[in-house]
Amino acid sequence: MRSSVFLAALSALLPAYVAGQAQQWGQCGGIGWTGATTCVSGSVCTKQNDYYSQCLPGTATSAPSNPPTSLPSSSPTSPTSAPSSPSSTPTPSANNPWTGYQIYLSPYYANEVAAAAKAISDSTLAAKAASVAQIPTFTWLDSVSKIPDLQQYLSDASALGKSSGQKQLLQIVVYDLPDRDCAAKASNGEFSIANNGQANYENYIDQIVAAIKQFPDVRVVAVIEPDSLANLVTNLSVQKCANAQTTYLACVNYALKQLSAVGVYSYMDAGHAGWLGWPANLTPAAQLFAKVYSDAGKSPFIKGLATNVANYNALSAATPDPITQGDPNYDEIHYINSLSPALTSAGFPATFIVDQGRSGQQNLRQQWGDWCNIKGAGFGTRPTTNTGSSLIDSIVWVKPGGECDGTSNSSSPRFDSTCALSDAAQPAPEAGTWFQSYFETLVSKANPPL
Ligand code: BGC
Repeated sequence: MRSSVFLAALSALLPAYVAGQAQQWGQCGGIGWTGATTCVSGSVCTKQNDYYSQCLPGTATSAPSNPPTSLPSSSPTSPTSAPSSPSSTPTPSANNPWTGYQIYLSPYYANEVAAAAKAISDSTLAAKAASVAQIPTFTWLDSVSKIPDLQQYLSDASALGKSSGQKQLLQIVVYDLPDRDCAAKASNGEFSIANNGQANYENYIDQIVAAIKQFPDVRVVAVIEPDSLANLVTNLSVQKCANAQTTYLACVNYALKQLSAVGVYSYMDAGHAGWLGWPANLTPAAQLFAKVYSDAGKSPFIKGLATNVANYNALSAATPDPITQGDPNYDEIHYINSLSPALTSAGFPATFIVDQGRSGQQNLRQQWGDWCNIKGAGFGTRPTTNTGSSLIDSIVWVKPGGECDGTSNSSSPRFDSTCALSDAAQPAPEAGTWFQSYFETLVSKANPPL
């Protein structure tokens, strides 16, 4: 999602705080927040994380921090073969992990979407918005506090699988490395290397693994640590990344081994065409991923790589966006087709998944490295295993569209100047929290339309 490109810090000049109650969807608290801490009528100030509380629609008891635990599921895949039966030592399927499974819908996202749709007055747009709740995204385990949700979803998915006869597949993002997001600021995480980060991370992984182990009938697919290994390929000139290198490798190694042991199919994040797809970066990237795969024991559960996570690139662009000039790998299919042989010769027979959740509109950015809340983005191709490429297991929606990439508030500790560029939608709340106007644009600009 991030990029290797660094831009000079721009000052983000946000309107000065005007005393009073915060508007619906506005910020109402968080570390360093000096603005309003109460909300206009009809919304409730709800803590999202230490940095951000937001005015969400509803009354005191209806905030979505405890989403409903079971919702109807639908599958965009066409089941074609019977899943393997659970056993204590998981056996990897030779097939695409999605084959024969129905994707469990994240209640957290469905709840965010339902609340957002209710807040839209145009009934046509509201109906389209509500339909997004049926499209599978990934559940981001971006802090230890999300793990109880995982436990609940696994339990629900297991029950749903038994009652419907349709085996369930749960999609997660493992995202809690110490010194996370080392080349940007917007997604700084809860653990630091200097403060017991690696042990804390291993404990985080252990908790995820313990939950998954209880439900061997639920298949789990994981995207591993967005941006982390890509930062090690191109951003070691950044002090925080250089300092994190050994720890990132040790933590990713631990995650891959432990998750493989309980039968989780892992895809390591591999940036995108405009990052590792540049010809000079392909071989170093392939060598790093192959080494990580090998160091983790070459488990067949380490399926491959995830590209374009939370980014905006097309899988197959009709024409190259002018900002890609100079990169022969101007879209994700070119990137994958170039990376794959390099991986194979380095000893990693990887397959891919590609995020297209926000790739519906193209040619929106001023620079290819811009990644934050790109203005005018629309929901993209729906998740499907009908990918048109034997290298791609599934088109997926990893980033839950409507959740923010980063705040445009320059006084936030997690302010990244990229989120105040002219092609970034503003004002934007903290990373991961709901960004209502952005979601509405994703809906109205969806391509294919909703
Ligand atoms: C944020 C996470 C969030 C994820 C998905 C990331 O940019 O840092 O907190 O869970 O996006 O929205």
